[in-house]
Amino acid sequence: MKTSRIPGFYNMDVEERRQLLQKMNVVSDEHADYLFSKEPLSLDTADHMVENVIGTFPLPLGLGLNFLINNKEYIVPMAIEEPSVVASASHIAKIVRTAGGFKTEATDRVMIGQIQVVGCEDMTAAKDALLSARDELIAAANEAYPSLVKRGGGAEDFDVRLLNASSDSPYTQMLIAHIYVNTCDAMGANIVNTMVESLAPSVESITKGKVYLRILSNLPDRCLARAKCVIPPSLLASEGFSGEEVRDGVVLAYEFADSDPYRAVTHNKGTMNGIDPVVIATGNDWRAVEAGAHAYAARHGHYGSMTKWSVDQDGNLVGELELPMSVGTVGGSINVHPMSKLSLELLDVESASELGQVMVAVGLAQNLGALKALVTEGIQKGHMALHSRSVAVAAGATGEMVDMISKQMIEAEDIRVGKAQQLLEVYKR
Ligand code: MEV
Repeated sequence: MKTSRIPGFYNMDVEERRQLLQKMNVVSDEHADYLFSKEPLSLDTADHMVENVIGTFPLPLGLGLNFLINNKEYIVPMAIEEPSVVASASHIAKIVRTAGGFKTEATDRVMIGQIQVVGCEDMTAAKDALLSARDELIAAANEAYPSLVKRGGGAEDFDVRLLNASSDSPYTQMLIAHIYVNTCDAMGANIVNTMVESLAPSVESITKGKVYLRILSNLPDRCLARAKCVIPPSLLASEGFSGEEVRDGVVLAYEFADSDPYRAVTHNKGTMNGIDPVVIATGNDWRAVEAGAHAYAARHGHYGSMTKWSVDQDGNLVGELELPMSVGTVGGSINVHPMSKLSLELLDVESASELGQVMVAVGLAQNLGALKALVTEGIQKGHMALHSRSVAVAAGATGEMVDMISKQMIEAEDIRVGKAQQLLEVYKR
């Protein structure tokens, strides 16, 4: 039985961790080869991915452990440079699994393509004409991408909005047509962009207007994933703080974020600290996910918290997160980058929908990890302790020296490159 609860993983060396994954049968031999390769993303492949390539830019790939989501075990690959993120996600996931795990769900995966129409003589008549042609336009969009229809997806809805109706300026009044497309397991940007570009001539002839933009919207609010956890306060107690204190601190932190954009953006950054590394590790477009998540956090007219934390009638802490999740398990760089293939194998998800659900669960865990630290000892203590190893490396420490120097800096409560250099000098003498 696969488990994501691997006690002692943290204390193993990299080689031991890799071997354990192979022994656990969560990585195939082919993908394990990528792990052991010095250049998992070859220069040749990189050169075909983007322009003007001069090299590749590796990031640490860590594993978020202990995740139990809808009663399924998940080992979560996280590509990130920031210390303490992976540890914090795994710490909270351990608490949540003791409380029964995360529960997640998702809507259908429907992406939105936009077509901007200007210069119509009568905007309202043009809008009505487009709406009357709804079925033909949906059919035409599907003809532009027949393979998607074969896979069970395709364009399924169409509507039109008139923006700035009361304006006289030809620059501001415009019709925006939306085509809604179920993109199955693909993120869908190419599919949707192909469709909206193919529809543009018909839209011009129906409206007698001019089409300018034809592009995917990165606010796919019909492609949502939700995660929830319910945690008894006893599981939240931490050195010097009762579980109730931590629970109440988390709710107060949420209310702070939800009422103040200066705090909301940092609070949400903490949530995205969990989501982005999984988006990156699986070869998905993290700019798209980031953009959608922040816009969704402002959907009520003010920018607020992505997560919601409350107390239920039994005194439990309840966490919820709902976000648009425009991620795929096929297409784009996912099938090109060897490490994303490895990550998807580790995650063992069957669909893009399941992948999005794992991501929101990790985001919820990450947000709680940050808040739990912030309402208790503060984040610097744990953060600096983990950061100390990077500081030791920056000062020139290698091998066993990294942990030795890092330990001494923690003991001295002085974690700086200068201090690490001083300590290294002692060993060099
Ligand atoms: C740091 O990367 C993330 C935090 O700032 C998030 C937060 O303040 O909630 C710790």
